[in-house]
Amino acid sequence: MAPKGRMPLISGNWKMHHNHFDAIQMVQKLSYRLSKDDYKTVDVSVHPPFTDLRSVQTVLESDRIPIALGAQHCHWEEKGAFTGEVSPAMLAKLNVSYVIAGHSERRTLFGESDEMVNAKVRAILANGMTPILCVGESLEEREAGTTEERVRAQVAAGLAKVSAEQVAGLVIAYEPIWAIGTGRNASAADAQAVCAAIRATVVSSFGAAAGEGLRVQYGGSVKPSNIVELMAEADIDGALVGGASLDADEFARLVQYQSV
Ligand code: PGA
Repeated sequence: MAPKGRMPLISGNWKMHHNHFDAIQMVQKLSYRLSKDDYKTVDVSVHPPFTDLRSVQTVLESDRIPIALGAQHCHWEEKGAFTGEVSPAMLAKLNVSYVIAGHSERRTLFGESDEMVNAKVRAILANGMTPILCVGESLEEREAGTTEERVRAQVAAGLAKVSAEQVAGLVIAYEPIWAIGTGRNASAADAQAVCAAIRATVVSSFGAAAGEGLRVQYGGSVKPSNIVELMAEADIDGALVGGASLDADEFARLVQYQSV
């Protein structure tokens, strides 16, 4: 496998799973399964529900586990009358490193528009954290042959008013909606084609250095049986994993994809 010069990022998106007791057990198990050498070649993040963040932070920091803390969502305002929401500043205070923005479940089930996703991306950056901007086409769009057009438009909208320097440090996750939680993953070649189009969009708007630094993850039914071929592709720099991240053994195998 050719080294790409970008550190791979394997992220576990727990969605609405695991209470804070389960979450503590999960990170402790992960810390037993993973070795110092694993963290030298891969960045790892876990994205528990909000109610678990403080507990997971405490375990990661007190046991010095080099797994980055991630969140699944946030609002874009600093504070205010937004019942039920959590601000990026609150996440930053918990030493959250990565925040997912625009996951398709939030876009489709909770009505997040491209404008809202862009506001979040900018707020996450303004608070010193790294956005994982999610993009991806529906089954209808794939069948209509408009996948790249859709994804390019989501990238452009999501990164509006973001600087080239900031883009160089961020993460975009390509997650075809039809592959999320369905057991059906995009083939490595198809995923590579879309991830290359994402990078090309970034290069044309923000320049070569931004495209070179940007990490592009693939997400959608990533599992131990398909991660190796996905990660071998030139423009796939990591994986955003849902279902297979809920079990510590399975997630550890994904993190260790280079040694299987
Ligand atoms: P999945 O979810 O791995 O269960 O398909 C991926 C995601 O939604 O991030």
